[in-house]
Amino acid sequence: METTTLHLHTAFTVDTVDPRIFGGFLEHLGRAVYDGVYNPESVHADDMGCRKDVLAALRRLNFTAMRYPGGNFVSGYHWQDAVGPREKRPKVRDIAWQSIETNQFGPDEFLELARRMDWTPMMAVNLGTGTPEEARNWLEYCNVDGGSKWADMRRENGYEEPHNVKLWCLGNEMDGPWQIGHIPAENYAILAQQTARMMKMTDPDIELVVCGSCAPDLPTYLEWDRKVLEHVRDEVEYLSLHRYVGNEFDDTEEYLAVTNSIDRQIEATDAVCLSAYHTRKTKRRVHLSCDEWNIWYRARHGEHLDGKGKYAPHLLEEQYNMEDVLVAAGFLNSFIRHADSVKIANLAQIVNVIAPIFTRGDEMFLQTIFYPIEMYSRRRTGTSLQVQVQGPGYTSKRYGKVNYLDSSAILNGDELSVFLVNRNLNEPMEVEVRLADAPIESLLNADFVAGTDPKATNTFEHPHRVQSCTHDDIAIKNGVATISLPPLSVYAGTLKIG
Ligand code: AHR
Repeated sequence: METTTLHLHTAFTVDTVDPRIFGGFLEHLGRAVYDGVYNPESVHADDMGCRKDVLAALRRLNFTAMRYPGGNFVSGYHWQDAVGPREKRPKVRDIAWQSIETNQFGPDEFLELARRMDWTPMMAVNLGTGTPEEARNWLEYCNVDGGSKWADMRRENGYEEPHNVKLWCLGNEMDGPWQIGHIPAENYAILAQQTARMMKMTDPDIELVVCGSCAPDLPTYLEWDRKVLEHVRDEVEYLSLHRYVGNEFDDTEEYLAVTNSIDRQIEATDAVCLSAYHTRKTKRRVHLSCDEWNIWYRARHGEHLDGKGKYAPHLLEEQYNMEDVLVAAGFLNSFIRHADSVKIANLAQIVNVIAPIFTRGDEMFLQTIFYPIEMYSRRRTGTSLQVQVQGPGYTSKRYGKVNYLDSSAILNGDELSVFLVNRNLNEPMEVEVRLADAPIESLLNADFVAGTDPKATNTFEHPHRVQSCTHDDIAIKNGVATISLPPLSVYAGTLKIG
């Protein structure tokens, strides 16, 4: 077996890993909120009506920034419908997902949940059917102490203390022709700028995410980002990018190489931000918020609602498999490797729909992609190191040359975490981890997920077909660690260095 070497040096760093790259996304979509996170009828319901079993699983994922309430949903959402006494909240039609929104779970409940879960709330305002003023009013409701209409409304609703939401998104996927209120880049930029100014005049300490290109296959890809940054200039801290992938051609090797194109998308978008900064179009260097990422086959659209509307319909509800485990790990490797540009990333989404946790009645199981996220998130603190891989690989038709090993590394004092993905479907791999300027002394802990069948899934009947286990197949000699990986596997391990 040809050895693969991962070369690292403690001085060759990328940047501190922003914990917010381990964020999530909870949208009012299908059974994500109702019947997912929130179900007062469930035997698992807590005093808030949230499902304790789901929350316990979510705690294992250690999420940081949690984006809410959409997604496409937000482009028709009026937050005022969803605050105050529950019995007075109207039922409304959600046009984006053709559902009935009861508003029984609204921003105050979400922010209460975020406090309990230790999530950093990341709220999106409605720039589809909403106005800059409505967005500003929402910020006043959330962040201003009192003494004016919307802040006093929050106090009357039982929240004396401001919620202090410091991270806000200026709409959602406004470049997508499917988006309610989709407009050309220049028009959106003006709308976003007005909203941003009004919001920052209400609370100057907030950070804002402006909508960038949401898909590389749109004709306006990158041109949209360039135009938006030219107009918005100094009002925003982050530009969003979204990425969903799937094994479209049913070719596992090709699919596993998609990480190359995720890298390129991040680098291309960052180049637009850097160019705007260097040509003084923006005063600050705008960073990236990959605020929707996941595997989404779009194979299951769920129930056909045909405008009739339904409460908590079965929408999307993807089932993940073993090859998706490697792709989810590939996304996380890419975010870590680009720690200098990517400051926020949100797994879309967290329960049911397209998510790592799946419920049916009071039952629940963990989807395959749950495990890499848990394994990485536990080891997320520190500085990303540049990785250099020497070893065998293959050529993908769409994405070019790839090494069988996909990797990233985080250094935290004398602890080095390495994240390894063996994309070889048939062969095991020996990875030598060499830190050029310090010896590796011992293994602190390690986990891995492996499988021989790329299509293996977890189900209610077989919930543990794919899951993580502890890993100890490692030899450490002369300061070099040799880690043995089975074919088709993801590894996350923390090593003590001298
Ligand atoms: O996450 C599902 C949907 O995907 C979101 O609502 C939208 O923003 C994206 O197109």
